[in-house]
Amino acid sequence: MKVHTYEKGFLAVGGVLLVACLFALLYASVAHGIRLPGRVATIDPARVYQTPPFDKPGLRQVGPREYVAVMVGQAWAFNPAEIRVPRGSTVTFRATSIDVLHGMNVEGTRVNLMLIPGQIGESTQRFDEPGEFLIICHEYCGIGHHTMAGKVIVE
Ligand code: CUA
Repeated sequence: MKVHTYEKGFLAVGGVLLVACLFALLYASVAHGIRLPGRVATIDPARVYQTPPFDKPGLRQVGPREYVAVMVGQAWAFNPAEIRVPRGSTVTFRATSIDVLHGMNVEGTRVNLMLIPGQIGESTQRFDEPGEFLIICHEYCGIGHHTMAGKVIVE
């Protein structure tokens, strides 16, 4: 009889947690606009360096304190490896991979993309504090994975 009561209790706790988590997800996506980084477009992975804007990887200024960073992930580097912006800048990272699956995380920010061959990922971040932000590949991509890094320098 006692065991039966406990079982009901555990089921109730499980049910409440499930509903609470679903509400938390809903709240995050509706109230705070938190989404998975979008796949904005597709690209022929064999022709990345021939396809604009990836034929000229790097930083472009698109407005006052607004930039687009066109980045290519490849074994085992980011191209470009370093971008430099003044503080207070908003940077949209637009990135893809030319070979295998890579990750791209700008440490200490919400920029966290999967670089998937054939897809273009995008994520925007404002940099208010000066400093150096490491860009790391967080997806195992082969023997040189741990050397694949870059940085954002905010001046
Ligand atoms: Cu690229 Cu790990």
